[in-house]
Amino acid sequence: MRNLNQHTITEAVIERFADTPSPRLKRILTHLVKHMHDFAREVELTEDEWMQGIEFLTRTGQKCDGNRQEFILLSDTLGLSMLTVAMNHDKPEGCTEATVFGPFHVDGAPHYENGADIANGAKGELCEVSGMVRGIDGEPIAGAVLDVWQADATGHYDVQYEALAQPQNRGVLVSGPDGRFNFRTVAAVAYPIPVDGPVGDMLRATARHPWRPAHLHFMVRAEGYETLVTHVFRRDDPYLDSDAVFGVRESLLGDWVPQAGGGYALEFDLVLNPKGSKRSVGSAHATRGLMRSESIS
Ligand SMILES: [Fe+2]
Repeated sequence: MRNLNQHTITEAVIERFADTPSPRLKRILTHLVKHMHDFAREVELTEDEWMQGIEFLTRTGQKCDGNRQEFILLSDTLGLSMLTVAMNHDKPEGCTEATVFGPFHVDGAPHYENGADIANGAKGELCEVSGMVRGIDGEPIAGAVLDVWQADATGHYDVQYEALAQPQNRGVLVSGPDGRFNFRTVAAVAYPIPVDGPVGDMLRATARHPWRPAHLHFMVRAEGYETLVTHVFRRDDPYLDSDAVFGVRESLLGDWVPQAGGGYALEFDLVLNPKGSKRSVGSAHATRGLMRSESIS
């Protein structure tokens, strides 16, 4: 295996993975090498350009910490997150569709009773959110665990404030015996994804805007149903057709209805897909695995 050239090196590298014990890992690495090599040949990648690429990826890793996940942002803005969601959550008609997980979920959010104010002091106009968790046949799902999170009126999540001592605009609730849930929060607004890192550099270099349409995040878990990771988007938002992370789905649009006494009300039902449903493929596990650095084995 000497004197490899630009045409023979790909096969040589792929052969080196021949003894990989896990067939899945072998398949992933084989195709990764094949497509990376084809990419380099197609764009006639120079050494300087690849060094710039390595520096970009290095900065992306260095930007990550316990609260900032620049790699999720990169995956989101390149459409890879939404692609994996679309491939792995092909649900029956009538189920609430999945969308990107995003970089701002935090494990261990505070638990609240229904009716509570999860804003916990966050800036913004009041919004009363209510709905029902149900199955595809309309059955109410009691005891579903709803993880909700969103940005404040300035477009920032609590984890983006260094000095903030308390979680804001995030919480965990449980649906009642009738499947219903309700809580108070602030009205969602459109916000730009963080542009102070390498992903921001990429957006500026490519004349792309960083805005996401206003939305409220949900992750819903219930025994016997597939976990749903999704958002509800504001139907009147100007960025619905140019979401920086490609996450908008028509079925996820909701109405923030202005109330006579001020503030808004949002009513949105979350319809879960039973586990083992014939038309579902994969699971939320697949998405979270890719998004949350689970090892491939
Ligand atoms: Fe978000």
